[in-house]
Amino acid sequence: MEKIRMDCMKNGPYKVVGDLLIVDANGKSVSAQGATTYHLCRCGGSGKKPFCDGTHAKIKFVSE
Ligand code: FES
Repeated sequence: MEKIRMDCMKNGPYKVVGDLLIVDANGKSVSAQGATTYHLCRCGGSGKKPFCDGTHAKIKFVSE
């Protein structure tokens, strides 16, 4: 099995790289076909969760 890598971006999203399947609360896939890199929101402000939409910069999210 190939490793999946997740990096915490400073004051931003999680960057996840690998062959992964992301599903919503209803079990529906929200992964993009063929994509291997995702930026997942960790500020809570994204309008298209679970993905980052850049809102973290607007709200000046600061990661610890
Ligand atoms: S981390 Fe980018 S919108 Fe939340």
